[in-house]
Amino acid sequence: MKNKIVLLLLILTHTTTLSSQNYEVEIETLLKKMTLEEKVGQMNQYTGFFDVTGPAPADGDNKAKYDDIRNGRVGSMLNVRGAKQIREMQKLAVENSRLGIPILFGMDVIHGHKTIFPIPLAEAASWDLEAIEKAARVAAIEATAEGIHWTFAPMVDISRDARWGRVMEGAGEDPFLGSKIAVARVKGFQGDDLTASNTLAACVKHFAAYGFAESGKDYNTADIGSSTLHNVVLPPFKAAAEAGALTFMNSFNELNGIPATGDKYLQRDILKGEWGYDGMVVSDWGSITEMIAHGYAEDGKHAAFLAADAGSDMDMESHLYKLHLKELVEAGELDIAHIDDAVRRILRVKFKLGLFEDPYKYSDELREKNLLLHPDHMNAALDVAKKSIVLLKNENNFLPLAKTGKKIALIGPLGDDKTSPLGNWRLASDDGTASSVLEGLQSYAGNSIQFSKGINFASDPIHFVHELKINTEDRTGITEAVELAKGMDVVIMALGEHGVQSGEGRSRAHLGLPGLQQELLEAVYAVNKNIVLVLMNGRPLTIDWADKNLPAIVETWHLGSKSGNAIAQVIYGDYNPSGKLPMTFPKTIGQVPIYYNTKNTGRPGPIDLVFWSHYIDETNAPLYPFGHGLSYSDFSYSELNVARLAMSNSISVKLLLTNNSKVDGNEVVQLYIRDRVASVTRPIKELKGFEKVFLKAGETKQIQFTLTESELGFYNNQGKFIFEKGDFDIMVGGSSVGGLADTIKL
Ligand code: BGC
Repeated sequence: MKNKIVLLLLILTHTTTLSSQNYEVEIETLLKKMTLEEKVGQMNQYTGFFDVTGPAPADGDNKAKYDDIRNGRVGSMLNVRGAKQIREMQKLAVENSRLGIPILFGMDVIHGHKTIFPIPLAEAASWDLEAIEKAARVAAIEATAEGIHWTFAPMVDISRDARWGRVMEGAGEDPFLGSKIAVARVKGFQGDDLTASNTLAACVKHFAAYGFAESGKDYNTADIGSSTLHNVVLPPFKAAAEAGALTFMNSFNELNGIPATGDKYLQRDILKGEWGYDGMVVSDWGSITEMIAHGYAEDGKHAAFLAADAGSDMDMESHLYKLHLKELVEAGELDIAHIDDAVRRILRVKFKLGLFEDPYKYSDELREKNLLLHPDHMNAALDVAKKSIVLLKNENNFLPLAKTGKKIALIGPLGDDKTSPLGNWRLASDDGTASSVLEGLQSYAGNSIQFSKGINFASDPIHFVHELKINTEDRTGITEAVELAKGMDVVIMALGEHGVQSGEGRSRAHLGLPGLQQELLEAVYAVNKNIVLVLMNGRPLTIDWADKNLPAIVETWHLGSKSGNAIAQVIYGDYNPSGKLPMTFPKTIGQVPIYYNTKNTGRPGPIDLVFWSHYIDETNAPLYPFGHGLSYSDFSYSELNVARLAMSNSISVKLLLTNNSKVDGNEVVQLYIRDRVASVTRPIKELKGFEKVFLKAGETKQIQFTLTESELGFYNNQGKFIFEKGDFDIMVGGSSVGGLADTIKL
């Protein structure tokens, strides 16, 4: 009863102050009432009792967790979902703990919730910020209807290494595009009104440099210099912080010898210092404990000290804050100011979301029933899926296919798969709920479609948390597939990676088609060369053979719930593809890491001698460059006009874009710069603007950009943003290669 009164009082006092957004006073009042144990409790986050997204600590038994919830020793839970379940757990905290502080419920809502959108890398290929924001909004509407307050997204890690399985979760290799997408996602998740019951607090992760894991091996060391840190890694984080992201997550990796979780420079100096960030930082799963294995902390107590001291506000599943912080403060080893600062930040998130006003407002079973998988959400998923497809190759306009009178074979282990296209990181969605390529093609009745798997993808059942056992032996279906292909007008081959082959822990040392797929492809090719390769994958793959031999290749990533429908619409020309690669495709794994915004080096070549920066057994050029993507329209660029804006260090860039074809289409116009000479060398190309433009058949439009010091400047090695006058190359085109160019002096 006493607790209920306390809660009521809290609710009453908070209602008035919250309307004026003055929660800072409230936070101080509450902080004064809290015991040290209760403060530490707020810094403790447990996983729920069913979905597990990492290795569980030994003391993670459920009874102890429930006791902690009742006693105010839990600030947040992850992996609990369902309006009813969350309401019940929230009730335990709010009605039993002394101060009734609501729990913050978090979950990885990465690309949709129940309705699944394309994996983030695929969405990035749309270069369509509105569509990306919408996808995050829909995810927020569904997740919040299931009681969830907080998503561990967006992942804004820039990566240049396709071996790293988590590239599927980010926006690719470019900091400019990555920053724009980070902002769109934060806006989408958090909506316009933080106190609304469908606001999903964003968590910008992984701070920092996780995407620079050496050799693309997950959790591996990152060792990068100041220039790369400030110019490549940090910009999307900064943009997301400025867009109001409520939380950050640090990362598993060490950066230049310091595990990010214990890195003061990153968390206190840069994020909370220079950037003035007032949100909270959660550790990654168990990353506080992992500082012991890194060789940075002696034991659990030391690890807890290092993390709290460095500015990790909340402990995700290490259980070390709970065990050691009180003792550390009481012994005078850890400054209580750090605890207070962390608790303030955590409470601030709860206040901003309005949880003190109504801790149950997210748990609405009616909303849950009505909103999950809503037809509008499915339509949005289809829209983004179409926009995410990249037409990699289309010799002699092989695509689109005629809608009638064709005999078509669909071949490949992913052809009828209704789970793989959902991709990885989709905790709330059910297996078997994506539309398959087969279903998508069958929805066009005018052609005859026959299907053969050819091979099975895996030799064992596929499971989310276990290693995938790829089929490398069973070839029994290949003959049947080859027989089917004979005499067909077109063969569509659905090949690539299974949805669980990218994502966390899924680094690959080979980037070809896994298992027997290349063998199947070549066997079919031997009898029928009219092949459309529908590539399904979570990262760039080395498909050099396919590029050399096949007339058409369509990059479809893992497109989510409406995958098959989106693919069929592109194949039949009901949607004109407009996606552009957010990551470079290597020809061979030896070129990795490969990225467009490389430095020139002192020996860029080519020269006749051997002594220049190249491979003797492969060209430097990628298979498909960053920004590449074809269309059924034919666009041309002309009349580039580059001028200095009067009395300023700004540049106006104008050009004409023409659609020379008979098909309406979208083109992503890309603007790149090169700062010719600088006190810290600059890349040979840097994306600094883009616009997705719709052009009717035969139409011409003028496109205009303005470059200012913010686009023309860079971070020096002291992490200071500077602008230097000089010559700038200005390049525009439909890809990072080719296009129009001019040079201007500032
Ligand atoms: C991942 C995070 C994720 C967390 C919670 C970790 O293993 O690195 O990105 O948010 O688990 O599921």
